[in-house]
Amino acid sequence: KKYDPYRPSARTFDLITRDARVLCHDLMPKPEEETRKLALLQRLSNIANEVFGEAEVLPFGSSGNGLALANADMDVCVFLNTKPGFEEVSPVEFVERIGDRLEKDPEFENILQLTRARVPIVKLNHVNGIACDIGYQNDLAIWNTRLLRAYCRIDERVRDIVVIVKMWAKRRKINNPYMGSLSSYAYVLLVIHVLQRRGVLPNLQSIVVGNGNIPFWDCQGFNRYFFEDIPNLARYWQPTPEALGQTVGELLYEFFRYYASEFRYANQVVSIRSGGLLTKEAKEWSKEHTQTHQQQSFQQQQQQQSEKTAQTQTPPPSDGKPVVKNRYLYCIEDPFELDHNVGRPVDRYSTNHIWLWFTFDAV
Ligand code: GTP
Ligand code: MG
Repeated sequence: KKYDPYRPSARTFDLITRDARVLCHDLMPKPEEETRKLALLQRLSNIANEVFGEAEVLPFGSSGNGLALANADMDVCVFLNTKPGFEEVSPVEFVERIGDRLEKDPEFENILQLTRARVPIVKLNHVNGIACDIGYQNDLAIWNTRLLRAYCRIDERVRDIVVIVKMWAKRRKINNPYMGSLSSYAYVLLVIHVLQRRGVLPNLQSIVVGNGNIPFWDCQGFNRYFFEDIPNLARYWQPTPEALGQTVGELLYEFFRYYASEFRYANQVVSIRSGGLLTKEAKEWSKEHTQTHQQQSFQQQQQQQSEKTAQTQTPPPSDGKPVVKNRYLYCIEDPFELDHNVGRPVDRYSTNHIWLWFTFDAV
């Protein structure tokens, strides 16, 4: 092992572990908050049924994976009946119709219809104090929520570390993808990556029952397979004795140290799906995808029109000013949607900014 002059003493690690446990307990949502969330879920389900007929509303993100802090937003996804005979609703149309209905309801405030987002959503606040994002037919989000929940069920240290890291990122103001930093989802993937490297967690997407290859379970064109039978995981994988002995304090230190001084931002990609690191070259994530301002607004207009009415028009000529579409500065591969960089919102300035906080807080 390399000599690390900043490594805290065993006593400091014990103190961090003890404080972390207390903090995690305090940051847990109280049962009363869960009750308010359940009531809102039921309310949204009634509204979706009223607007679209047969609809199912499922929680995802931290409300579905057990990684919520107190007062966290609630992410929900609406699924409509897609059987023949039921009308087809595009994501933009969905956002507009449910958004218009919610605007008429005094129970909901600050309603935003984000029809131009990569995944169109409605954002709102309920009068009972819960902020909520409503998405549409996003099966992959449900599956990645289940994947993160499965990782948390393997070892109780995972939840403690994720909760502390989420709180840290919020306090450092580096947890806002709309402002160029990382989403909570991205931080959870960063934590799982470090824990896989330390032998605390397996790679659930590579554990196969029997001797065959990894099966292909299709979900929106991607493979959503992972080993979900956590009570029987010990038959297929065991943590290393060293990993078992590590305290939450030591693992937290390892997390900060890794992203402060070991991870190579310039050419590495965090990939929990492969249980390690990939290179930007191998993923062809070396070049930023750029387009011009005019081309971008043209695409947004096209996206706004419903699929049926969209006409094929020639995009306007370039005005020469590049707008970055896909950034590959902070590279975190989505576990299922392999061409999606979860660190995409991060620009050059915030990459340094986040790295500086990792470095500052590692010591
Ligand atoms: P808090 O809202 O801070 O409690 O965290 P969260 O666990 O709900 O995470 P977040 O709101 O960042 O993401 C919610 C869910 O959106 C994730 O669990 C994923 O299912 C889904 N998701 C998929 N891709 C992305 C992505 O690129 N960015 C974000 N933000 N979410 C994604
Ligand atoms: Mg959320």
